[in-house]
Amino acid sequence: MLISKRSFIKGVLASFAFFAQGFFNKSWSQSNEILTGEITKIEGDIKMAFTLPALPYADTALEPHITAKTLSFHHGKHHNAYVVNLNKLVEGTDLANKSLEEIMKATAGNAEKAGIFNNAAQVWNHTFYWHSMTANGGGKPDGALAKKIDEDFGSFDAFKEQFKNAGATQFGSGWAWLVLNPKGKLEVVKTPNAECPLTKGSIPLLTMDVWEHAYYIDFQNRRPDYIDTFLNNLVNWKFAAENLTKASNKAAA
Ligand SMILES: [Fe+2]
Repeated sequence: MLISKRSFIKGVLASFAFFAQGFFNKSWSQSNEILTGEITKIEGDIKMAFTLPALPYADTALEPHITAKTLSFHHGKHHNAYVVNLNKLVEGTDLANKSLEEIMKATAGNAEKAGIFNNAAQVWNHTFYWHSMTANGGGKPDGALAKKIDEDFGSFDAFKEQFKNAGATQFGSGWAWLVLNPKGKLEVVKTPNAECPLTKGSIPLLTMDVWEHAYYIDFQNRRPDYIDTFLNNLVNWKFAAENLTKASNKAAA
């Protein structure tokens, strides 16, 4: 009877051990599923890393004004380098899951994060710049944008002079912009290096890259000729008008 009891107890213990093994195996399995989930998430994050956006046109589309050689270097080498650098800099940080705009706003003016800001802003600025140009562009805008330019600058020619001047007088590398400022007025601004008006509360409508890499192959040191070409033959007023509409709708919402 005693043996039977011992056998019973052994049996119970064995059953418990078997059950326990099963339980922990299940727990381990569940943990493993969680880990797998995390790994998937991490893989997902890697897939969510910033990628180089395609040009919105063929690299020959802006010829003869901007050659395919310039666009292939500017987009394929310079723009791509900013994307690669940004991914390396934010990998494993709390910025990795943020949008480009969020990263720019979180790092603007922070000297310790200047590298992240510069690369993030250059990714944003270049993508915006490609859309600021189009084949058979240039000339004058029409509709609401033309009306607002007249209201806020006095005339289209006055805007043009300010924009040309901003591009020509930006010392060294930088950008010229048409923005809608926080007071709801159109304004021409220039920014050095990677800086973007977005981090100062303005809404960009249009930009022109005046880094030498934007024009040196086609225009050498003749930045004013590049600026004239941008305004007369390349500027995408449809894009600027769409940005004004979006900004106006956002302000009215
Ligand atoms: Fe550039």
